[in-house]
Amino acid sequence: PPATPQYRPAYHFTPAAHWMNDPNGMVYYQGTYHLFFQYYPDGMTWGPMHWGHATSPDMVSWQEQPIALAPDSLGYIFSGSAVVDKNNTAGFGKEALVAIFTHHDPKGEKAGTSTFQNQSLAYSLDAGKTWKKYGGNPVLKNPGIKDFRDPKVSWNEEIKTWVMTLATLDRITFYSSPNLKDWTKESEFGQKLGAHGGVWECPDLFPLTLSGKTYWVLLVNLNPGGPNGGSATQYFVGQFDGHRFTPLNDQTKWADYGPDEYAGVTWANTGNRRLFLGWMSNWDYANQVPTSPWRSAMTIPRELGLRQEGREIYLTSQPAPELNRLGSQATTLRNVAVKGSLDLTARLKSTTATHKLTLKTAQLGSFELVLANAAGEELVLGYDKPANQYFIDRSKAGQVSFSPKFAGRATAPRLSTAAGTELTLYFDAASVELFADNGLTAMTDIFFANKPLTSIKLRSAPGTTFQEISNTPLLSKPAS
Ligand code: FRU
Repeated sequence: PPATPQYRPAYHFTPAAHWMNDPNGMVYYQGTYHLFFQYYPDGMTWGPMHWGHATSPDMVSWQEQPIALAPDSLGYIFSGSAVVDKNNTAGFGKEALVAIFTHHDPKGEKAGTSTFQNQSLAYSLDAGKTWKKYGGNPVLKNPGIKDFRDPKVSWNEEIKTWVMTLATLDRITFYSSPNLKDWTKESEFGQKLGAHGGVWECPDLFPLTLSGKTYWVLLVNLNPGGPNGGSATQYFVGQFDGHRFTPLNDQTKWADYGPDEYAGVTWANTGNRRLFLGWMSNWDYANQVPTSPWRSAMTIPRELGLRQEGREIYLTSQPAPELNRLGSQATTLRNVAVKGSLDLTARLKSTTATHKLTLKTAQLGSFELVLANAAGEELVLGYDKPANQYFIDRSKAGQVSFSPKFAGRATAPRLSTAAGTELTLYFDAASVELFADNGLTAMTDIFFANKPLTSIKLRSAPGTTFQEISNTPLLSKPAS
């Protein structure tokens, strides 16, 4: 297929060429954010999985590195995590970076066995540059569960052991280990809780504090069964005592309601910051999206937190402040009253499809923000007050025919009860990420317009006033 440089994002990671899915092994070490990823270096669709590798000083400007892990006699290299083994518990060396991943044996799968996914180790003694697989692989053998994968490992301070959070078909299984090599089963969670429209994948478990109290968040990716179809990231808030996870309640919650954030997990070794990034696509059509010579991008990095709304405690996602380094001159309008339709393209100096838009209103009512081009294509997003939903409609935003599952209008509930709100929208060539109510609702949507959507209109039938609307073109190369 002809190359599509117009869809290449400026500040989202994409591999130079070929297929990418889940982020893997995210670890921060000596000033560098490492991002590994599910990668097939010989094709533009999913194939024998490798771990690709990219590095960044700020999670915004990325440098692709040589492939870190390639398939071997034990199978393909599926998703997993990485840790800094500060106390050399595994004996690979002081401060070794250790990757814990799933070996997926395609031969065993073909032969109809149920033990073709097992957990293995690899380590790096040169700060992530080169990797060696452990000779004793696999370290955690499959007990007979077909879907047995995506280990996320972290050090648990309370019990002074490593804890592995593993996706096991329709539940999470927790394991513990003193040395990353010997694993003991601790408990299971979730068979009857949360969303189960598909198989559970790519979990994560981490603490966050709210008003001085510590809670544990369990992320569970799910495919299919997402709130807008296909794959999505759900989460639970609760307590973890080193052995067992106990949720506060059984409400299903979503880290991102849009169709295009999946397999999202967080970076290891970032101190008190909890930094999240996901794959910006959906298994419903990821293999068909019209980009070339690469397929898929990652989301922007997001900083996670907790917030109480009513009696519920929610996870919040906000664009990581590092993204502010991209900004150039903002154009800000104040007290914009919208009744009917208002074209703001000229006043907002909108010329690029790579920009940030923010809208502030003291009284949130129904409105539509329309990003359009001269060819009549438009991406419509906004808020529907009667339904109390944010939405993004890409059905007229360009190419949609590559998959019957692509066109459509995605919705997300508004969780805040405040009268006003601030919306932040990150656009980057072929994607938008919406953050509302200080991160209570996040939505990610990709689209493929035939010409950049640089005109900006606001529509509101009942009438809405925005105290502030701001447009900031984003530069592709941050000053760092
Ligand atoms: C999630 C996933 C993982 C698996 C990987 C294979 O998108 O299906 O469960 O490890 O992708 O590429």
